[in-house]
Amino acid sequence: MAGLRLCVPISGRGSNLGALIAACADPQFPARIELVISNKASAAGLALAERAGIPTRVFDHRAYSKRSDFDREMTRVMEDMQIELICLAGFMRLLSDEFCDHWRDRMINIHPSLLPSFKGLDVQQAAIDAGVRFSGCTVHYVRKEMDTGPIVVQAAVPVRTADTAETLAQRILVEEHKIYPQAVRLIAEGQVHIRGERAILIDHKMPANALINPLPNG
Ligand code: GAR
Repeated sequence: MAGLRLCVPISGRGSNLGALIAACADPQFPARIELVISNKASAAGLALAERAGIPTRVFDHRAYSKRSDFDREMTRVMEDMQIELICLAGFMRLLSDEFCDHWRDRMINIHPSLLPSFKGLDVQQAAIDAGVRFSGCTVHYVRKEMDTGPIVVQAAVPVRTADTAETLAQRILVEEHKIYPQAVRLIAEGQVHIRGERAILIDHKMPANALINPLPNG
C-alpha cells in the first residue's frame, strides 16, 4: 500500500518520529513518511530517519531573515514532494499565519497536555503546579493560534503526588507514542471530518468508564 504521504518536522530527540517510523514499517499502515525536516542540523531524530532510509532536509532558520521566507521554502520543498499531511513532532518553531493557512486541515501536531489546558512550554510543570489530577497528550490539527485546532485523539494519564516534570513527561510520552500513529491512521483512513472547530470521528470505539484519581476506594 502506498499510503498518505507524510512529512515529519522535528527539532530534537525525535521519539515521536521514531513511533511514526515504527508504525509505517507495517505494510498495512495507511501512510508513509516521505520526508523528515529539521530546523537544527544537530537534531538527534535526523539519525533515526536516515537509519530508516527516509530523506531528510535541514532548514536552518538562522539563514532566513524573515519567518515567512523560511516557511515558504519549507512549503515549496514539501509541495514538490507532494506531501499530503504534515505531522509536527517536537518542531519548536512558531509557524507563520501564511504557512498555517496553506496547510490548513493538512497539518497536525502532538502536544504534551490535555488541550485546551496548558498551552505553550513547560506544560508538565504547569500541570503539577495547577494541582490537576490528570494530564496527558493531544493530537490536533494546527491553527494559527498556538496549540489550538480540532482535536483528533487524546490520552489521559494520572498526575501523582510525587511527580516531577520529568516523571510526568515520561508517563505522557509513552502515550504520545501510541496516539500519534493512531491519529495518523484515522486521518489516512478517512475517518476524521472537520466541522467547525471539531474533528468528528466516524466508526470508532469510545471508553465506557470514567477515570477517577485518586481511586475511590484507595
Ligand atoms: C514531545 O513531548 C512533544 O509532545 C512536545 O515535544 C516533545 C518532542 O519529543 N511538543 C511540544 O511541546 C509542542 N508544543 P520528541 O522529539 O522525542 O518527539
